[in-house]
Amino acid sequence: FQPKLLHTKRVLITAGPTFEAIDAVRGITNSSSGKMGYAVARAAAEAGAEVILVSGPVCLEAPPRARLIKVTSAQDMLIAVKSEVQQVQQVDFFISVAAVADYRPKNASEHKTKKNDSNIILELVPNPDILEYVANLPDPPFCIGFAAETQNLEENAEAKRRRKKLPLLAANLAQEAIGAEEVALTLFDDSGRHSLPKSSKIEQARHLIAHAASLYEKWRNF
Ligand code: C5P
Repeated sequence: FQPKLLHTKRVLITAGPTFEAIDAVRGITNSSSGKMGYAVARAAAEAGAEVILVSGPVCLEAPPRARLIKVTSAQDMLIAVKSEVQQVQQVDFFISVAAVADYRPKNASEHKTKKNDSNIILELVPNPDILEYVANLPDPPFCIGFAAETQNLEENAEAKRRRKKLPLLAANLAQEAIGAEEVALTLFDDSGRHSLPKSSKIEQARHLIAHAASLYEKWRNF
């Protein structure tokens, strides 16, 4: 692994789930340990990048040399990401590993709601798509998406990459990946698909970073 691969590059990463409040003590969230996103942050830092890690609630320590910004909801995550991409110093890579909740409760109660015997209906409204926001900036960074699918991995992943206009997307099977120590990512880019053999999340992350670095110059000059 080349320690200078991302020397002088700024890499912004989102990781973990988001948590969307229902009331003061309850909420809805996605299954995500944050392990993959934190491994990507570690691999980017090893490659010499300046790393900013925007993380939803997880039980993990920030990798060495990464600046950690803790957030809770998707809206908080978008605010943190916006503030980083609006800095004068440009972000070169945006790696969206977070399992962002697609919806949030429309009206979160400030206080704990008391239970009774009747059914309740929770109205949900869509959350902003953070990756879509960054990928559609006038001068976007090199954007990498993640897709956890439960079926038809290839078609769904490549469709998602094209819809979100991403130069690179890493996909895996949700049932094999969530919380696991070892995964097998498939990388999708303009030249097709590349399947990585199963290994630890840090090994997969190092491959991903090397692959992204190999595509970057050509993408930048396009
Ligand atoms: O949820 P979905 O499968 O569309 O996620 C694909 C990619 O989009 C992931 O990289 C995820 O981090 C990102 N995403 C996001 N904001 C959302 C939903 C997904 O950044 N609201």
